[in-house]
Order: sequence, then structure tokens, then C-alpha cells
Amino acid sequence: MKYSAPRGTRDILPEESFAWRFIVQTIIRVLTTYNYEEIQTPIFESSDLFQRAVGDATDIVEKEMYTFTDKGDRMMALRPEGTASVVRAFLQNGEYFQKKKLIKLFYEGPMFRYERPQTGRYRQFHQIGVEAIGSSSALLDVESMMMGAHIFEELGLADVSLAIHSVGCDVCRPVIRERIKAFTESILSSLCPDCQSRFDRNPLRILDCKNPTCQMFFTGMPNMDSALCNECSDHFFTVLSLLEANKIPHEVDSHLVRGLDYYTKTVFEIRSSILGAQNAVCGGGRYDNLIAELGGRKTPAFGFAVGLDRLYMILKELRLPIPAKPTVTFFVIGLGAISKEPAFKCMSTLRKKRIMADFCFKEGAINDGLKEALSSKAVYAIIIGENEVENHTYTLKNLKDKKQFILHSLDEIAALAER
Ligand code: HAM
Repeated sequence: MKYSAPRGTRDILPEESFAWRFIVQTIIRVLTTYNYEEIQTPIFESSDLFQRAVGDATDIVEKEMYTFTDKGDRMMALRPEGTASVVRAFLQNGEYFQKKKLIKLFYEGPMFRYERPQTGRYRQFHQIGVEAIGSSSALLDVESMMMGAHIFEELGLADVSLAIHSVGCDVCRPVIRERIKAFTESILSSLCPDCQSRFDRNPLRILDCKNPTCQMFFTGMPNMDSALCNECSDHFFTVLSLLEANKIPHEVDSHLVRGLDYYTKTVFEIRSSILGAQNAVCGGGRYDNLIAELGGRKTPAFGFAVGLDRLYMILKELRLPIPAKPTVTFFVIGLGAISKEPAFKCMSTLRKKRIMADFCFKEGAINDGLKEALSSKAVYAIIIGENEVENHTYTLKNLKDKKQFILHSLDEIAALAER
């Protein structure tokens, strides 16, 4: 085989694609009940947008973006995530969006990150994401996380957990950074190269390191919650008490930081133990500064994205009920030159009645046609030969019980599909 899909990408074959559609439709049904509307943004944008939004010192921008120069010499990037594009669209279409006080948008599609591929981690992966723009209320944080939990509930997935923390704001983040640096300075030489390079560039990300040796060193790290300013601390405790009051199970994870720099205050992840190292199936949080950083008025916002590849992995592993791909109802076999045309017409008429039908294109004996019918997993074969054409009849064979019978009209055949 000369060509194969690029490393970290894969073909999603019909069986999985069908399950995928079911998952996406189920999620969209939940989002719609929370009054979210769909937005579609380009798959590539100016790379500068992601640099500004996601942050220069993040792995995504430093190492993982698929960038290219277009024929007009503009530096572009395949989107590594959806939030930056939605904010750009919100700012660009100000007139459209200004009619509403709170804007609730969702999007779905492929994202691209040049990461080291492993189970649950791809270079082209798929997200369904949500962004609510225009409220600083802790209730919005809780509504969003509730909606995340609702999605998993709706899909029958009980074995997930919600981890939450606060990463503070412009006022208290520098204090948190300094405290992390003060703690790690003396042990820096024992930490992994990633932690060492994050020490100056992005010390918060040190907390997120999955290296077991680093984790061991971090066990004695003091809780950073006391570094939160009053506003962030109040917000965090209001969110926690609202989660409590609404009986949304959650755990505070003081090491939870995210790989994107735009977050302020609440950050959260929904995790599944089934996923192994890449255990986050959903992640997000509040980003109150991003819109201003991209040139708009200061506007608070909250969002998250669900990783569809990982979600499908969990559903498959747990064998949760996903409807089976529908199979064709009738497989029409025309025997001999005289019956090809009536057989073709029979199939087209059934399709116009919205009944799934397929056709044997092969010229050959009845057994060849029946073999094809069986491999198509059809329920019935419709056999049209010389006799049938002459008598205006159709011979039907139930491909399961092998019983054969004669019908006289397409209406009778169509009635079979309704059973
Ligand atoms: P994120 O945590 O980078 O957040 O991605 C969200 C989810 O996408 C992850 O929890 C994971 O399930 C999935 N994901 C991320 N990278 C990969 C990968 N390489 N392969 C497979 N799945 C992956 C964001 O992207 C933010 N934009 C979410 C957000 C929206 N925050 C606010 N609004």
C-alpha cells in the first residue's frame, strides 16, 4: 500500500460514522434545550489569532500548530481549538450579535494539533464545543458544567467525574505563579525537562505535569487557593456551593490547570478512568479577558469542548447502546436482459417512497444475485425474471427465514417495509 492516512489521523468508517452521528445528535439535542445555537467558523484562520488567544507560551502554540503560508503570503493555521474562532466571529459580526445580552453558541468539527499520537490522542481530532458570551455570573459556570454532565447522562455514561478548580485572574495569577516558582525552585533539577522549561515561561503548567517523578515531588506543594484574590475566591466558593446545591457531583483538583492561557477563575474537566493517560473527555472554563484581548470590549464568557474521539472510545468500551446502522430493506435482482429495466424502476420507485433499496448491477445467475443480497444485509430480495415481467408480479425472498412468496404491486412491497 503506497499511501496511508497521515500519522495521528484516521478514517472513520461507516459503522463508527453512524454511531458518531448518533452521539452528535444526542449532544445537540441537549444543547438545544439550554438554548444554544450552532455557529460554523472556518477550519483555518490567521495563525496570529491563536497565538493571541491560546497564548504564546502554551504547547499548542509553541509546538503543535499546523501553520502554513498561503499564496498571498499570509501566515495561517489549521484551528487547534474552537474558542478563538468563535470569539473572532463574535467580534467580526458585532451587529448580528449585539441584539442579545447573552450569546450561546455551539460548534462541531475537526481540530488539529501536532501532538505525539497515542491512545485517545490524535493530530486531527473532533470536538463539539460551546461558548456562552456575556455573563460573569457564577450561575453561568454552573449551568455550563451542568450541561456537560447532562450530555454524559443522556448518553448513559455514569462513570465520569467532574474536576474543578480556579486559576485566578490578572490580579492573583502572578501571586500563584510566584508561589509555584518558590516551591519548585529548589527541586527544579530533579523535575522533567518540560517542567524545567515551564518554570520561567508558564509555571502554572508545571502543576499539570503527568510525569510520575514530578508528581511525587509535588505532593508537598501547598494549596494555592489562599493566593486567590477576594473576587476570585468568592466566585470559586459560590460555584462550589451552587454545584453542591444542584447535586452535581464534583471534586476540587488543586492541580487542575489547562493547556490554554485564556482562562480566568473557574476551570474544569470531565474525566473517565477508561481513557488511561488522556483521561479528559471534556474541558473548559471561564475566560473573562479573551474578548478584550482580541480587540473587543471586556466581556465575560464561559465555554467547554467535548472530545468526540474519546467519547466514542468510552461508549464503545462500555458497550453502551448505540443504535445499529440501518441496513437496506430490499435488494432488487433483475434476471436477464428483459427484466433489468423493470427491476431498476422497481428499486427507484421504492426509494422515492423513502424505503432503503439497492440493486444488483451484476449480470449473472440468481445465486450470484442472492449472494450479493445477503452481503448487503438486506431484509428481502426482490427477484424479477421473465415470468414476473410477463405476469406483472414480484417474487420476494425473506433472506432470514428463506421463505419465498409472490406479490402483485409495489404498494404491497412498500407495506412490508412498514412492519
Ligand atoms: P481542550 O481541553 O484543549 O480545550 O480540549 C477539549 C477536549 O478535546 C479534551 O478534553 C479532549 O477530550 C479533546 N482533545 C483535545 N486534544 C485532543 C487530541 N489531540 N486528540 C483527541 N482529543 C483531544 C479546548 O479545546 C477549549 N477550546 C475548550 C473550551 C471551550 N474552553 C472554553 N471554551
